[in-house]
Amino acid sequence: MNQGKRVGIVGAGNVGATVAYSLAMLGSCHKIILRDNKIDVAKGKALDMSQAAAAVRSHTVVSVAEDISDLVDCDVVVVTAGSPRLPGMSRDDLLMTNANITKDVIKGIAKYSPNAVVIMVSNPLDAMTYVALKESGFDRSRVIGMAGILDSSRMASFIQEKLGYGGGQIRASVMGGHGDDMVPLPRYSTVAGVPLSDVLSAAEIDEIVDRTRHGGAEIVGYLKTGSAYYAPAKSTAIMVEAILKDTKQIHPCAVYLDGEYGYSDVVSGVPVMLGAKGAEKIIEVTLDDKEKEMFKKSCDSVQTLIDTLNKNNFFEGK
Ligand code: LAC
Repeated sequence: MNQGKRVGIVGAGNVGATVAYSLAMLGSCHKIILRDNKIDVAKGKALDMSQAAAAVRSHTVVSVAEDISDLVDCDVVVVTAGSPRLPGMSRDDLLMTNANITKDVIKGIAKYSPNAVVIMVSNPLDAMTYVALKESGFDRSRVIGMAGILDSSRMASFIQEKLGYGGGQIRASVMGGHGDDMVPLPRYSTVAGVPLSDVLSAAEIDEIVDRTRHGGAEIVGYLKTGSAYYAPAKSTAIMVEAILKDTKQIHPCAVYLDGEYGYSDVVSGVPVMLGAKGAEKIIEVTLDDKEKEMFKKSCDSVQTLIDTLNKNNFFEGK
């Protein structure tokens, strides 16, 4: 019997659970398998979500993998596992901690779901996507980071707030890594096809760009004990759907660059065409000198993290 589409989600915290819930409501797959070290919590959430799916007459069943070896034959695996930054921890400490978690998780995925497309969500996003790619041995089209859809959605929401109209008609564009050096592109952002510069002043656009860059921190500032999860989860679910349905639509995602935009052996956010095989095509957008400079700065920041991993012999034996 065809067992239908299967989506694995590693890490059933706020982001992972909300990805599962979004997918269950959409009925985009037959089975969602949650994997978390807190097995009982994952079981409770899985039952709750299966019941929510039944309420909307969705056929999706949510279950739990008690061990990574239960995460078998998934079409897509979303990885949200990772430690948040704890008091006294440096950014590099977080990098090494989450790189080690990612390494473990990815080895299991590569073994038990060898044909899956992996979507990385853990931070620091671009570096974790790089680690996942190296540790999986998968083709780069099958290891994709979620950030561009989130950052573009944040920019679109800030544009709508500033304008006071145009909701649902805004196309915002953000490239580069998921960090303070991300590259919002007002030149490629429109409201119902109208360029942003025709409806907002340069100062207003600058304000939106700056707020987009710090959109994650703005939410952490309010939540205090955690970070955003509704928009990150919805953005991830959009990627999962595009892959499961083989839509061939373009979304900004973090991928390994191999010469595109003049960069190699680094991960950054660029527009990609998503289909059943993952990031099936990387689209090269024409950037002006200022945009190229910003994209370089963003790639350099990600490179610094990869250099730190190398200095710590993280990829030793590869
Ligand atoms: C954000 C963090 C979680 O952008 O990356 O919300």
